[in-house]
Amino acid sequence: MLIRKSQDIDSSEITPKEVYLNRRRFIQEAALAATGLASAALTAELPGSRHANAGEKLQFRKSEIGIQGEDMTPFKDITTYNNFYEFGTDKSDPARYAHTLRTIPWTVSVEGHVKQDRIYDVESLLKMHPSLEERVYRMRCVEGWSMVIPWIGIPLASVIKAVQPTSKARYVAFQTLYDPKQLPGQRRAVLRWPYVEGLRMDEALHPLTILAVGLYGETLLNQNGAPIRLVVPWKYGFKSIKSIVKIRFVDREPPTSWNLAQPREYGFYSNVNPEVDHPRWSQARERRIGEFFKRRTLMFNGYADQVAGLYSGMDLRKYY
Ligand code: MTE
Repeated sequence: MLIRKSQDIDSSEITPKEVYLNRRRFIQEAALAATGLASAALTAELPGSRHANAGEKLQFRKSEIGIQGEDMTPFKDITTYNNFYEFGTDKSDPARYAHTLRTIPWTVSVEGHVKQDRIYDVESLLKMHPSLEERVYRMRCVEGWSMVIPWIGIPLASVIKAVQPTSKARYVAFQTLYDPKQLPGQRRAVLRWPYVEGLRMDEALHPLTILAVGLYGETLLNQNGAPIRLVVPWKYGFKSIKSIVKIRFVDREPPTSWNLAQPREYGFYSNVNPEVDHPRWSQARERRIGEFFKRRTLMFNGYADQVAGLYSGMDLRKYY
């Protein structure tokens, strides 16, 4: 796979956001009206499409937020070494099996303590921010590996501000699609399905927190959580929930999948912290995918300057 950075891409090759949005909307409407077969035929006509709308070029601006000076993990590794238990527990399973997920049409229900419960398509959510942004983030999995990923997305804060939660909203709960036909791993009770996650409101509003729809300048492949997923770079990877269909504003700390499965091992906060080990794995060091030697894990995954203030006064051993 040839990977081109955005500056190498002739602007005529880039799909303007409006065209992208309109095309997706056209496809969605057509898909809604037609049979699965017809919609598959339509999406297959998209230039560069892999499955559904995945892999289409996006227009974006480079954000000043994020990291610089670290090598980005190759596209191949980001898209073939995944955790997406809805497709199996092996790192290679998502890339092999995620083609069964249909990402067009796709809607996200926004509900709970919010001005108005409403169902949005992905395009309507993206329009809540002026443009798509590229954010290069260091990502750290609790299993001890890490990657550097050039995400494309918008700040979650823009969506939150646009939908206007009420004063009762103290946390944001997220939910992945539940459909064992499309997500066959949900037939096995490895986790309680659907996958759920949550953030405290100030974490959700933090400028580093994004809803991602792409990486390396293209729409997300299914294995990375298409069509829309959360990315919270100072927390272990499992907080970054994939293929979101519901965002609910709540007044209490919402349940999270890994905490439900193993509460002693996975807390609600799950901030990257080299000083607090997981019961089975030290968190002091990590292996950057593609590198041989391990490197030190940084407090809050290297984003301490930006996020440490969110947790001042909290005992991070207790609130792990
Ligand atoms: N979201 C869902 N719905 N299901 C999952 O199994 N795995 C999490 C997170 N989001 C997971 C999920 C874990 S453990 C990690 S490390 C990241 O996704 C991996 O994201 P990536 O495969 O895009 O690198």
